[in-house]
Amino acid sequence: MSSNLKKICCIGAGYVGGPTMAVIADKCPNLNVTVVDINKERINLWNESDTSNLPIYEPGLADIIKRCRGKNLFFSNKVEENIADSDMIFISVNTPTKKKGLGAGKASDLKWVESCARKVAKHSIGHTIVVEKSTLPVRTAEVIKTILEASKNTNSKKSINPTFAVLSNPEFLAEGTAINDLVNPDRVLIGGDNENAIQTLHEVYKNWVSEDKILHTNLWSSELAKLTANAFLAQRISSINSISAICESTGADVREVARAIGSDSRIGSKFLDSGPGFGGSCFKKDILNLVYLSEYFGLKEVAEFWEGVVQLNNWHQNRISQLVVKKLFGSVSGKKINILGFAFKSNTNDTRESSAIKICKKLLEEGAILYIHDPKVEEKQIENDLKITFNMKRNEDLSPNLHNNEVEGSWKKVNNLSEAFLDSDAVLVLTEWEEYTKINWLDVASQMRFPAWIFDSRSIIDPIKVKEAGLNFWRIGDGT
Ligand code: NAD
Ligand code: UGA
Repeated sequence: MSSNLKKICCIGAGYVGGPTMAVIADKCPNLNVTVVDINKERINLWNESDTSNLPIYEPGLADIIKRCRGKNLFFSNKVEENIADSDMIFISVNTPTKKKGLGAGKASDLKWVESCARKVAKHSIGHTIVVEKSTLPVRTAEVIKTILEASKNTNSKKSINPTFAVLSNPEFLAEGTAINDLVNPDRVLIGGDNENAIQTLHEVYKNWVSEDKILHTNLWSSELAKLTANAFLAQRISSINSISAICESTGADVREVARAIGSDSRIGSKFLDSGPGFGGSCFKKDILNLVYLSEYFGLKEVAEFWEGVVQLNNWHQNRISQLVVKKLFGSVSGKKINILGFAFKSNTNDTRESSAIKICKKLLEEGAILYIHDPKVEEKQIENDLKITFNMKRNEDLSPNLHNNEVEGSWKKVNNLSEAFLDSDAVLVLTEWEEYTKINWLDVASQMRFPAWIFDSRSIIDPIKVKEAGLNFWRIGDGT
């Protein structure tokens, strides 16, 4: 370990900052790691003695927090103070798609990153290595460097001018497997042009990652590699989802097609599960960012190619809600539908861009009564995502609500699955939680209103058991 590096500060205590710093603290007991955030509520939750209340659910995370918190891992709201006494600062803040102004709908909103760079510029003392952990458009490091450099000229109050090195170190963890991905990464990418800084960060990872997996590139390759990795992964999902629609029309089965193509070592078997469309906070925003960059550089055809991946995903999500309506005789108005899973994938409480949001909203527009279950997503989160609390409050008996002369749907969060299916017309599986694979379909069938449908968008339900229970069954990409 480089003798100069003693204290790391990470700005942003979110899905990336929290788990990543927890693993660094765990693997580097000689380093002091502090995660700071402007969100007081989030920091309070990170500091709660009961680790079942951490703001982020990730398998294995609570154990690390128990081991390291208060020893060499800290969570704090004191952003400026921690910047001032750190040797290395990770910027791990949100970089969502811009909602308005230049590039709205595609470009990344860098206001949080810029604000961090300004705080670092103002409060750093001595030499500081600034590490981009957030996913950023290519050449953002130039913006950060410019802000940091400018501070040298204006900071007359500081007796010694601070110095900086900027690195790009994008994160490739996936939610639900974050701890395992961090502990056993396929690779760690360090982009930069300052050899000392690169070596210092390299030494941190070397504590648990073998050196052949720590790749060094220039800054711009590192920034672009992150966007490209997400674009390629998302493209695979849109590809297999497009094939699932062809399967349904032709008598083929997408699972068989995926197995057949995945056996080709050039294609590989991972990321070929057809589902309800990709969700999560990053795939869509990162591809749109790539689209924006391509347009900015005049590469229209490149932009259109990547935009197609997002368009196919949108089409696919709509396709699922539409086919539910069609199978239920063209109307779901007043019909009770169980939604199994609201998170964008299993083993996370994250609902950002979850396909469940779009699909539920469409069904609510059609007047459905949704009973939503998810083992980790809070009711408050579903309420925020569906933004229809007003209807629900006026509609406690859960009958269709006549509001503005239009029939609108309603929803309820269900905590106990055993009571969920009474008089249901359909069950729609949207997240692949393991507990849904253990449902007893004979019991469920005895409670549902017939003719009843089970829709499995994740291929986790045994078709034979459902059909034996007398239920109609649809699953993604099954044309057989
Ligand atoms: P997040 O929204 O969960 O967390 C970001 C945190 O930064 C928030 O708690 C916010 O309050 C805080 N923040 C924003 N501005 C701040 C400031 N000026 N000072 C202090 N705190 C500030 O986001 P996330 O999911 O952790 O993603 C962070 C970045 O990592 C994004 O660029 C994302 O694209 C990238 N990324 C995310 C994942 C993932 O799985 N979520 C994986 C790889 C990369
Ligand atoms: C993804 C990438 O996998 C990470 O490498 C990356 O770091 C991260 O984005 C990021 O930059 O945020 P994540 O979004 O957490 O990670 O989860 P994934 O496992 O990639 O799943 C994304 C979406 O695709 C989910 O909705 C998932 O259900 C769906 N998916 C995934 C499929 O429909 N089929 C598959 O075969 C795989």
